[in-house]
Amino acid sequence: MKQIIDVRVKTRKAEFTACKTEMLVVGRFSDGDAGEIVRALDAKLDGALTHLAKIGDFTGKLKTQAVIYGNGRVGAERVLLLGLGERKKATLDTLRKAAATAANRAVDMKVKQVSLALHRSFTGSLDAEAVGRAMAEGVYLGAYRYDEFVTGKDNGRPTTLAAEIVDPDSSQIKALTPGVTTGATVGQAQCYARTLANRPGNVIDPPALARIAQDLARGFRTVSCTVFDEKRLRQNTMGGILAVGSGSRSEPRLIVLKYTPKSKPAKGLPTVALVGKGITFDSGGISIKPAQDMDQMKLDKSGAIAVLATVRAIAELGLPIQVLGVIPSAENLPSGTSYRPGDIVTTYSGKTVEILNTDAEGRMILCDAIAYAAKQKCGVIVDIATLTGACMVALGTYKAGLMGNDNDLIGRIEKAATDSGESVWHLPSGEEYAEEMKSKIADLKNIGSRWGGACSAAAFLGQFAGDAKWAHLDIAGMDVCAKPTECTALGSTGFGVRLLTTYLMNLVENG
Ligand code: BES
Ligand code: ZN
Ligand code: ZN
Repeated sequence: MKQIIDVRVKTRKAEFTACKTEMLVVGRFSDGDAGEIVRALDAKLDGALTHLAKIGDFTGKLKTQAVIYGNGRVGAERVLLLGLGERKKATLDTLRKAAATAANRAVDMKVKQVSLALHRSFTGSLDAEAVGRAMAEGVYLGAYRYDEFVTGKDNGRPTTLAAEIVDPDSSQIKALTPGVTTGATVGQAQCYARTLANRPGNVIDPPALARIAQDLARGFRTVSCTVFDEKRLRQNTMGGILAVGSGSRSEPRLIVLKYTPKSKPAKGLPTVALVGKGITFDSGGISIKPAQDMDQMKLDKSGAIAVLATVRAIAELGLPIQVLGVIPSAENLPSGTSYRPGDIVTTYSGKTVEILNTDAEGRMILCDAIAYAAKQKCGVIVDIATLTGACMVALGTYKAGLMGNDNDLIGRIEKAATDSGESVWHLPSGEEYAEEMKSKIADLKNIGSRWGGACSAAAFLGQFAGDAKWAHLDIAGMDVCAKPTECTALGSTGFGVRLLTTYLMNLVENG
């Protein structure tokens, strides 16, 4: 798939004041020293930067910015100054967001070339590779726009953005470059996820999602794709996926992506299954949702797409670890053939489930996929799903819910969240919650009590993971951005791609 804006990021050796570019981007903290680049530019620009600070127009406060024009006195056409806030509060995510802000601004200003010197504010305090990676990711995230269905694009939006990280010091360039390469891959994968997730239900239905996965696999020798159609789902008694898909003209699918690295994984590394909820549209089914905001339910496939994009990223990076991407996909619609409240469904695991609400469909397709991953002997299963409105009520739109049955796995995902800037919060899903999901006339029912809906949904899923270490990410609330920010355009956020990729990279690195 083509990028909506074709973004490239590289590194280049150049002096900051002499650097020929359409836009040079420099950071400044609100406290302490202004930094060598600001001083050097200030000297060339007749004290313009000191003046800006003096009249209070730009002091380095977080999320503030100023543009100064070079007028031939420095190499850059323009200098974009970005406020980084207080030095002691700055993290890798501050840098990622600053790079995103720069790319975002460049696209808005129709600038096609942007040169970043932001890393210089962080030299010494953060690892150079991580710095390069965060900047490259930020560039992709900030430049992203979703407008593939807008015809007659005469708004003049650039179709390309050439970004570079510049530094006069070759050893700095050398230290940053591997991270920049990784960050470009991950950032690109997250943008790929956003575009796919943003595509509506009339464009992507389960068979179309399966074709996308097959296309992805064709691009890599290390990735294979198997698709279970309705007949094969039936042969495997995947009753959960079949029930949810029964109301739609589009058939449901189970999509299995297998990544087998070229280089042998280190001894003791488990095969990791990533399981993503792929509801291409969730109307609620017979238990239909209110009309308000129902259009957003095209994003109910976001978990599935995070899995697709993560597989793409790790295949591109050639990560030495076995990964199975398992994507159950269906469209949840009301019709004469829909599953209904009261139905009892036999799932792939053999467990029976009493349906009490057809809108609790995510767990019905995921339970088959998780049981499938467990049967494939995956040591670790991580599922990701826009599962419950309750999770959104609990955590808002800032953090994904994280539940699971293994403290070590939970800790690793929390670490990946910190490293990637995709935030999670650990919630319970133990015995009491599982108790709520017991049915009197089947093994389980598909809804619990009114309270703690995110936790009881997780407790339902946990019962299908067998002996595997299992974690669950509830990304309802994280999948969509209603108000664009520096890092996220309107629409899908592509949440989970950085988190899952980072979890896998850390696993490879630390065992
Ligand atoms: N896809 C929804 C969850 C959702 C809600 C995601 C809002 C993003 C934003 C899910 O299938 C659903 O409808 N869940 C129900 C479960 C309930 C019936 C137990 C919910 O949360 O209301
Ligand atoms: Zn639903
Ligand atoms: Zn749903």
